[in-house]
Amino acid sequence: MSELLKHVEAVWQSVVPTLPGFTVEVLPSIDSTNSELMRRARNGLMEPVLLVAEEQTAGRGRLGKGWHSRRGQSLTFSLALPMAPASWSGLSLAVGVSLANSLHADVRLKWPNDLWLHERKLGGILVETASQGEAPPGARMVVVGIGLNVARPDAEAVAGLGGTPSALPAMAPAGLAEILVGATCGEVLAQVAPALARDLQAFENQGFAAFAQRFAQRDALQGRGVQLSDGTRGTACGVDDDGALQVLTEHGMRHVTSSEVSVRPC
Ligand code: BTN
Repeated sequence: MSELLKHVEAVWQSVVPTLPGFTVEVLPSIDSTNSELMRRARNGLMEPVLLVAEEQTAGRGRLGKGWHSRRGQSLTFSLALPMAPASWSGLSLAVGVSLANSLHADVRLKWPNDLWLHERKLGGILVETASQGEAPPGARMVVVGIGLNVARPDAEAVAGLGGTPSALPAMAPAGLAEILVGATCGEVLAQVAPALARDLQAFENQGFAAFAQRFAQRDALQGRGVQLSDGTRGTACGVDDDGALQVLTEHGMRHVTSSEVSVRPC
């Protein structure tokens, strides 16, 4: 039996009381858990579902990049549920806060979607929404995809899985094994998924305001020099009420939204 399967019953038991109709699925292989749940949403599926894959053959990251993971060494899953928040601003930051809180005090959040451990990337978040289906008025199906390195991946293995040199991270990624020694993908799933479901519901009711303070406590860029992908340099000054990154540049404070640019410390 897959190690992941041992943990899905506990996850389901914990989530279903607050998310009626919730189901959990574990697949040995799929192109991408996000792609699959987006396909289902576009075909009208509006039931909450957690889809976990032992292997993704075409994992997707933000900004059109790929996401490479290894069977048994990375946790890859997506959680889809219908949501109708007053504002969607800051949702991916709230997801990061939820994961960091569930994982470890050392986990930091690198705006907008990265989980960092000791200055290296530990995981990523890909949030997508679909409006099709029989959603209640104002509701959309949100698909929250999470990729977490459980074992510490090595750059060569990532390259061997089809990454081009330009797609490779500059520094070797981190793995949860560095702080949660011996933790399995199933154990990590059980540690993060129920809280994530609860936090998405909290976001729907209270918005980013319920997460802003905790984001600030984990903000990896706070006070650091940053360079935006459009070349602008400045100092990161936290996020505003909508979750936009505030960057103090020579021309004043700029509010950067995640769809505009990427950002890296410099
Ligand atoms: C990023 O850092 O760019 C986001 C990475 C998100 C990866 C996860 S793995 C599970 C889900 N399925 C995907 O294809 N992507 C997300």
